Amino acid sequence: MPQRKLFVTTALPYANGKFHIGHIMEYIQADIWVRHQRMQGSMVHFVGADDAHGAPIMIAAEKAGKTPEQFVAEIAAGRKQYLDGFHIRFDNWHSTHSPENTQLAQEIYRHLKASGLITSRTIEQFYDPVKGMFLPDRYIKGECPTCHAKDQYGDSCEVCSSVYSPTQLIEPYSTLTGARPELRTSEHYFFQLSRPEVVEFLKAWTQDGKLQSEVAKKAGEWFEAGMADWDISRDAPYFGIEVPDAPGKYFYVWLDAPIGYLASLKNHFDKGQAKNHWHPASRTDASFEQYVADPAVEQVHFIGKDIVYFHTLFWPAMLKFSDRKTPDQVNVHGFITVSGEKMSKSRGTGIDPLKYLSLGMNPEWLRYYIAAKLNSRVEDVDFNPDDFVARVNADLIGKYVNIASRAVKFVPGGKLVAGDASALNHAGLVATVKELYETREFGKALREVMAFADQVNTRFDTAAPWKLLKEGKGEEAARVCSECLEAFKVMTACLKPVLPELALEAEKFLNCGTLDWDNAVKALGAGHQVGEYKHLMQRVDMKQVDALFEPPAEAGAGAPPPQPAPSGGASGQPPGGEEIAPEITIDDFTKVDLRIAKIVNCESVEGAKKLLRLTLDIGEGKTRNVFAGIASAYKPEELVGKLTVMVANLAPRKMKFGVSEGMVLAASNADDKAGGIYVLNPWPGAEPGMRVR
Ligand code: MSP
Ligand code: ZN
Repeated sequence: MPQRKLFVTTALPYANGKFHIGHIMEYIQADIWVRHQRMQGSMVHFVGADDAHGAPIMIAAEKAGKTPEQFVAEIAAGRKQYLDGFHIRFDNWHSTHSPENTQLAQEIYRHLKASGLITSRTIEQFYDPVKGMFLPDRYIKGECPTCHAKDQYGDSCEVCSSVYSPTQLIEPYSTLTGARPELRTSEHYFFQLSRPEVVEFLKAWTQDGKLQSEVAKKAGEWFEAGMADWDISRDAPYFGIEVPDAPGKYFYVWLDAPIGYLASLKNHFDKGQAKNHWHPASRTDASFEQYVADPAVEQVHFIGKDIVYFHTLFWPAMLKFSDRKTPDQVNVHGFITVSGEKMSKSRGTGIDPLKYLSLGMNPEWLRYYIAAKLNSRVEDVDFNPDDFVARVNADLIGKYVNIASRAVKFVPGGKLVAGDASALNHAGLVATVKELYETREFGKALREVMAFADQVNTRFDTAAPWKLLKEGKGEEAARVCSECLEAFKVMTACLKPVLPELALEAEKFLNCGTLDWDNAVKALGAGHQVGEYKHLMQRVDMKQVDALFEPPAEAGAGAPPPQPAPSGGASGQPPGGEEIAPEITIDDFTKVDLRIAKIVNCESVEGAKKLLRLTLDIGEGKTRNVFAGIASAYKPEELVGKLTVMVANLAPRKMKFGVSEGMVLAASNADDKAGGIYVLNPWPGAEPGMRVR
């Protein structure tokens, strides 16, 4: 197959809130697919952006006392830590509130207008007499005109998915003020989707087999109901892009939002595809306009099931009738639920992605778990805590990681010997898995890999290399284990789209270079030297998962505690005699592993007046030796038996009196003579080994 050119996007998240687990799930799905594509040499541009416009953002900004620009800029600044944290590698992240998007949206609009598909009409629209503005659809609720479900939004029904105009709602009310909205007239612009040529085009486009069958079926139902013209303008005040030659009119957010895909791509190209440096194969010399017009470029969108209407009707029609290429794939996923419950920010269910990271939970556990549950259909995915722990520990650690650690022990010097290459079907596995990634059957792909891992483990157990070694058959043990390591390499390639960081470590261990779908099946071969094995992945601890679901401390319950008068500050002195250190991210902080330590012994150090030698227990089954400069403040016997906090992952330091294997935490003024030294002591109940975070 010739090298494919792919332009891939995820839905553009509204810039009125942080990412939630639903966003992360969508990005993980797309990121896995993109990484698979890169492994087969496709040239990929994978972009995202914030969806910055619309009334809800304008109103949220107003509530926060900020300009909408300020408001969305702050949200944008928070995106990177999530994306980096979960190894989601967009080539570019941009915003619909950008010069590129303004230019493209106005251009596409002018084109549609020139094609005679835009019309203007004076319409009656709801106006909130209390708030003094035309009411955005989302701020009107009422009964769905189609299925009669109560409390549905003004633009679409969450129960039957039908789309309508707010004036069709039964018993409407303003959600801003509760007032019954009044009808007032205003001139609006419409994209005439009801025109026969548009309807014909969309029928063909949605029914030609490119869409998932359930999505095509839904689109079919919408046609049955009849296509209405689409109101694409809104009155000021509105945070959006101005409609050309129409003062006081703005594009409805859903007009410029998908154009944001193009805007982000354009921005990426205008920056010289800067981030593709790590994947030079994706670079192209084409200009943005050349690239998007190139018939060989496949445009692929990943979206959730709630925004299908916009992506299979409005968006292809906008593109088609402005003489642009239309999408090649619209891949729709279901929603993520947690223990079977729909996420709700207000009820505090769901999983906070940043909390997940800050607990030191491995992002690849979540990538694996979500991938294991995903298929190519529009099905919801449930996060079940027990299932999560079981899958990660049993599959990932128990089946995959363990093969490497068990096998390498029986290959003397890590030098592979010739094995039976036909014992396991490497090429068959790779071909199957690759195809399953291609069709987004990630769960099936991972099940194939795990079934293969079972075969490898069985082979290892049956051969029992530890016995062979005792029987003086070391060579046979090395042969079987070399085969296991070859198989481990193949599995690593197969898991690489899902577990990019783990694969990187495994590649280092295997000393095999960068794995892709081509070299995955090439044997390392006899004489190949693998590297030193370091443990590749920790097991999930149920306690971490429990902590993840612990509700955040209730804010605003009862009266706030009295605030002590600020110390320092007022006198112009920095607190504690030194300025607060430069800001760090939560990632920086979680690098420091703090543990509760029991001081099992403490003695003075001869020849070092300031030092005490502490023997600390953090539940590792051995103790640690730590020197601390606290002799001026404590007698050794005062400390024995107490708990404190230590830095457990500090590089050991060789000192004159021995090696110090960590550090205990103590408070002091910048000038430690001024106010003494105070060793930290946890509240009762803390136990040695617990992590401090
Ligand atoms: N701004 C629009 C999309 C514009 S695309 C040109 C939007 N934003 S959103 O923030 O509400 O949703 C972004 C994506 O997240 C959508 O694809 C949506 O389906 C997805 N998800 C939102 N909640 C979700 C879950 N609970 N589970 C999985 N995906 C979910 O819609
Ligand atoms: Zn309905």
